[in-house]
Amino acid sequence: METQSMNDYQGTPGLLQDRVILVTGAGDGIGRAAAMTYAAHGATVILHGRTLAKLDAVYDAIEKAGDPQPAIVPLDLSTATAMEYQQLAETIQNEFGHLDGILHNAGVLGDITPLEMYDPDTWDFVMKINLRAPFMLTQALLPMLKQSPDASVIFTTSSVGRRARAFWGAYAASKCGIEGLSQMLADELMNTSNIRVNCINPGATRTRMRAEAYPGENPASLKAPEDIMPLYLYLMGPDSLGKTGLSLDAQAR
Ligand SMILES: NC(=O)c1ccc[n+]([C@@H]2O[C@H](COP(=O)([O-])OP(=O)(O)OC[C@H]3O[C@@H](n4cnc5c(N)ncnc54)[C@H](OP(=O)(O)O)[C@@H]3O)[C@@H](O)[C@H]2O)c1
Repeated sequence: METQSMNDYQGTPGLLQDRVILVTGAGDGIGRAAAMTYAAHGATVILHGRTLAKLDAVYDAIEKAGDPQPAIVPLDLSTATAMEYQQLAETIQNEFGHLDGILHNAGVLGDITPLEMYDPDTWDFVMKINLRAPFMLTQALLPMLKQSPDASVIFTTSSVGRRARAFWGAYAASKCGIEGLSQMLADELMNTSNIRVNCINPGATRTRMRAEAYPGENPASLKAPEDIMPLYLYLMGPDSLGKTGLSLDAQAR
């Protein structure tokens, strides 16, 4: 399928029925929209995030829509230990018995400043959330994904993950790392498993992070998270079977 068609994709209502899908950073922005979209297509969504009140609100919205009952797993990715990632995997195994997809979406911006002045603690903070956490989570959840007949792992990249630009600091470095991590995992799993691994670049999207990065911009000029969901749905569902190792733009036309 051409990128344009993927970005016009509309799945059937039951596309993700019986699938269990973990969405990180599901309480806000793009993660919230993806969690709602996956649930609306029949998935049982595990809502991961940091702020419980936001996760509760998404939980309530999914219930109100009459979609499958979701679950909430709060975990601060800036401090999470190896044991906590393992415990999260055990919780999913015990509660659901299987896992069919992960959307690695949680992220922070950090500072926009020359490298010469970049604060090392901020660097570590951004790297932990944007790069270490997707690695740790994927590693902990791989045994379960391997049991799925058709699993999808989606990482979230950015234009500065394809080509880093001045002043984007740890954010750009972490997203370049995500592209590498995704390529590596796709390569390792190709031909030996039913897991496909891809990256999505959402493009400029009306969220808190975008407003933080571009405070002078008019948010009304941007796509809303709900507008960019076709690619998120396509890559998570069975119609993308066999697509792996790609890095795609959710707003490419
Ligand atoms: N918006 C854009 O234009 C754009 C463009 C390119 C790439 N992206 C990428 O798209 C993804 C989603 O971003 P967004 O724009 O939707 O931003 P957002 O609205 O700020 O959402 C980020 C999400 O990550 C969660 N998060 C942050 N730190 C966390 C931590 N320590 N532990 C657990 N969860 C944490 C947040 O939880 P809380 O709400 O609880 O803090 C929130 O749910 C990110 O990976 C971002 O880099 C966005």
